[in-house]
Amino acid sequence: MTLRGVTSALLSVTLVLGAARCSGEQSSLEPAGPVASGIATLFWGMTITGVVIWLAVIGLALYAASSARAPLSRGRGRALIIGGGVVFPTVVLSVLLAVALPMLPRFLRAAPSDALRVHVTGRQWWWNVRYESNAGPAVVLANEVHLPAGRSVEFLLDAGDVIHSFWIPALGGKMDMIPGRRTRLLLEPSTVGVYRGACAEFCGTSHARMTFIVVVHEAAEFDRWLAAQAEPAQIPADPLAARGAAIFGELGCGACHAVRGTDADGMIGPDLTHVGSRLTIAAGLLPRSTDAFQSFIARTDTIKPGALMPAFGMLSPGDLQALAAYLDALK
Ligand code: CUA
Repeated sequence: MTLRGVTSALLSVTLVLGAARCSGEQSSLEPAGPVASGIATLFWGMTITGVVIWLAVIGLALYAASSARAPLSRGRGRALIIGGGVVFPTVVLSVLLAVALPMLPRFLRAAPSDALRVHVTGRQWWWNVRYESNAGPAVVLANEVHLPAGRSVEFLLDAGDVIHSFWIPALGGKMDMIPGRRTRLLLEPSTVGVYRGACAEFCGTSHARMTFIVVVHEAAEFDRWLAAQAEPAQIPADPLAARGAAIFGELGCGACHAVRGTDADGMIGPDLTHVGSRLTIAAGLLPRSTDAFQSFIARTDTIKPGALMPAFGMLSPGDLQALAAYLDALK
């Protein structure tokens, strides 16, 4: 392959890799808030600078390799080495540092007094989400974070077992969740929409299956959502769902899962009080549906290898159907 061939191949690979995750609900390059915008701007600044320098270096290499070129004098050669090898990188790196440093305080500053506080705990392999409440008990859910647009949000991050990393690419940078040490992350969602977050630190077998949904609402809509989540679970009226509720009790599901308003008050697994209102189940793995509930309950070990929850493949199709109907009715 000629030098020109190598150059164009490298350029193509760079462009394809760059374009692969430039859009979608889990993209740092489609920012939905000022923190993420800063990161996207920094990324493009760094990338464009890097590409320009790379092209210049390749150009110089081609020029140096061309046979028609007369050798440089000793003085010009030394000037090229000092200018290109010392002065140029010092100036470029200093400018990039000066551009990037002012972004730091955004993450480190104290939260404004009206900031919404959301506690998130990472566990193998799901997210416990808790909203503080002035009136009544805290609102707890799992694998879904709802936020109001236009208001600062302070995430207080913990880890229940091993190190995880909390990351919502469309809203801002990632932050490690460390056992025994609380970390925080200040974000400002500004665009209403549905986004995707993920664990960004390898945390075991199903690390890649540890994602979550982020829904940014208008402020009034968010208040309505939070009020609905604070309510206890509805008693299912549908006979199939009612049978599912009985099976849920008989199987002892409530030892691990909480369903507020019922006897189920387990703390080991995700809170299921309003699981029927969520967009996905199993930490973002499956779109919520009665079929998905049945699959996950029967084949937990293959859908999320290593998960603490055992697979209930021994249940009859009828019992699985009833359980799924109950969970789906928990709106
Ligand atoms: Cu949690 Cu990776």
